[in-house]
Amino acid sequence: MAEASSRPLPGVVDDLRFAPHLLKDRVVLVTGGGSGLGRSMAYRFATLGAKVMVGSRKEENLRATCRSIEERGGEAHWKVADVKDPKACDALVEAAYEHFGKIDILINNSAGNFMARTEKLSENAYRSVVGTVLDGTFFMTQAAGKRWIAKKQKGNVLSIVATYAWTGAAHVVPSACAKAGVLALTRSLAVEWAKHGIRLNALAPGPVPTPGAWERLIANQNFEEAARQRIPLQRFGTHQEICDLATFLVSDTSSWITGQVVSSDGGEWLVGNTFQELRAMPAEFWEAMEEMRKPSSKGTPSH
Ligand code: HXC
Repeated sequence: MAEASSRPLPGVVDDLRFAPHLLKDRVVLVTGGGSGLGRSMAYRFATLGAKVMVGSRKEENLRATCRSIEERGGEAHWKVADVKDPKACDALVEAAYEHFGKIDILINNSAGNFMARTEKLSENAYRSVVGTVLDGTFFMTQAAGKRWIAKKQKGNVLSIVATYAWTGAAHVVPSACAKAGVLALTRSLAVEWAKHGIRLNALAPGPVPTPGAWERLIANQNFEEAARQRIPLQRFGTHQEICDLATFLVSDTSSWITGQVVSSDGGEWLVGNTFQELRAMPAEFWEAMEEMRKPSSKGTPSH
């Protein structure tokens, strides 16, 4: 990576706790790298010397992420891909190989989620979340893994899950099922692919404000405050904290760690998860939520 300018990247405080060239010349592929935590991780890895490939459904977000990295002297490339589609996953991995010649690290970050009454979910709603989170992670991991094995290259996979992968969570059931599946995949392949020098770990962030997650998953201000109060460390997390942990898990600083999930959640899961309060919401709350999803309405209901 060329000399970085002093201009900070949006959404990231570059207060690095790591050696500045920790990921020098590594190629990292980040799904969902055009926004939210995925974008922050892409910036962080580039700041540490990595070449970054980002994929997601939205071209304008991907272009903006790459532009920010390049303006700082880093190297980045993008490809539009909907990870629900196995062919798109393979094409995304292939594009990284074509552009950079290799992939060292895969971040399975793409996600979809929404709060709902499970009995009201349509087949499409279920498939949209599970397709993105579980199928997407499987097909991305398989596409990278088969190339690593065939080319005798080492690999490292980090999948972003949620602490309800092991506790379950009311009203986000497709996401809970899918994240649990991702954890099973992580542990299974950590054993199966260890002989190929491939490590797989998972990172479970607690609530961290990002526009995507917050708009969809924080019902209203009371809910937000209750979520904050329940966290033993009494605050939400930051992108910096999640990026720090991700950096540790994808770099050689964690070289003997595989098949693990590490939470960064202020201790939240030990006392319940973010969606716990939703059990108390009356039918009118859900009816108002459902009403607002209709094309003519905007906002979230207060209760
Ligand atoms: C019920 C819903 C719904 C909702 C969509 N659907 N939103 N059903 N309640 N709130 C239904 C639609 O009606 C449709 O079914 C089906 O889902 C697919 O919807 P589309 O809008 O066509 O799908 P798509 O564009 O793929 O959107 C995917 C999405 C959306 C999951 C619905 O939310 C999304 O793109 N999310 C990406 C960003 C995101 O969710 N980030 C948060 C991740 S946070 P029908 O039957 O009508 O066709 C996370 C962990 C949080 O994962 C942990 C916090 C601690």
